[in-house]
Amino acid sequence: MKLLVTGGAGYIGSAVAAQLVEAGHEVTVLDDLSTGHADAVPPGARFVEGSITDAAGVLDGVEGVLHFAAKSLVGESVQRPDLYWAHNLGGTLALLDAMRSAGVGRIVFSSTAATYGEPERSPIRETDPTRPTNPYGASKLAVDTALSAFAGMYGLAAVSLRYFNVGGAYTDRDGRVYRERHTVETHLIPNVLAVALGGREPVSVFGTDYPTPDGTCVRDYIHLADLAGAHLLALDACTPGEHRIYNLGSGTGFSVQEVLSVCREVTGHEIPSVVRERRAGDPAVLVASSEKIRDELGWKPEHPSVRDVVADAWAALTGRD
Ligand code: UFG
Repeated sequence: MKLLVTGGAGYIGSAVAAQLVEAGHEVTVLDDLSTGHADAVPPGARFVEGSITDAAGVLDGVEGVLHFAAKSLVGESVQRPDLYWAHNLGGTLALLDAMRSAGVGRIVFSSTAATYGEPERSPIRETDPTRPTNPYGASKLAVDTALSAFAGMYGLAAVSLRYFNVGGAYTDRDGRVYRERHTVETHLIPNVLAVALGGREPVSVFGTDYPTPDGTCVRDYIHLADLAGAHLLALDACTPGEHRIYNLGSGTGFSVQEVLSVCREVTGHEIPSVVRERRAGDPAVLVASSEKIRDELGWKPEHPSVRDVVADAWAALTGRD
């Protein structure tokens, strides 16, 4: 298929673009390089530097869009809601408009667990209430809502994938590694591994008084390679007039302290840590039920253990196998 991948120079978008190229698709990556890296675009894909608000020029003959381009820092979204509404909702509406004009009827959208907010039960199912607690989650939920309306009214074929905590790295058939390289890094695993690599500050553990077994937040870590694979299944599952929503996680929760222990084991480094105040907006437990995508699309994670996520992130960071 001829496909457009927006945000394909980013961590997740580039890994998905690589898997699409490997599967024989003709891929164009559209990315404004605000957070992505041009050298992350897989060699077999065409790269166009630009904004999703100017997608009209790259939609000729395209049969489907995989849409990753977005602002994705929860804390920043609280400080700058204007940016999140403009880019994530405004930008996506412009993209959907251009797709309709060009007759492109298929989209796989990068949604998030942040659409659920503070969950009432665990694991979270797709039918659970969506009450985002920050503008990032709210802007992604608004797009999900728009996609449902566009599917119903205009026959769009849409799938939203709600990611939980993505980590690890993807290595393609030629040995090219796709890994996390954020300029502003807020995520737990890369922060911990940066300390293992010789960072001067200890790891901050944000809050040890949560209602969890060891008092630290529990998250569901999914390996980048498994997450990327789900996009290819989603693309095939796109059905005109339907908007499907699937959670993507491993189904198992790990606390911040447990992740730290795994990182210590994998790296062989002591990794000092210090307890700090809770980080604003962090729910205590976020674990996905991924039963729906397993049942309906046959998705099966190959790296369900958080150890694999950490080991592959560490290997990619240090250049070791
Ligand atoms: N944490 C620390 N120290 C750090 C970094 C994080 O203790 O240096 C803690 C956080 O407080 C949280 C947990 O580790 O309890 C995980 O934090 P991350 O920043 O790695 O991930 P989040 O769960 O906050 O966010 C991820 C995605 C978001 C998405 C969210 C939805 O990055 O885009 O999941 O579940 F919105």
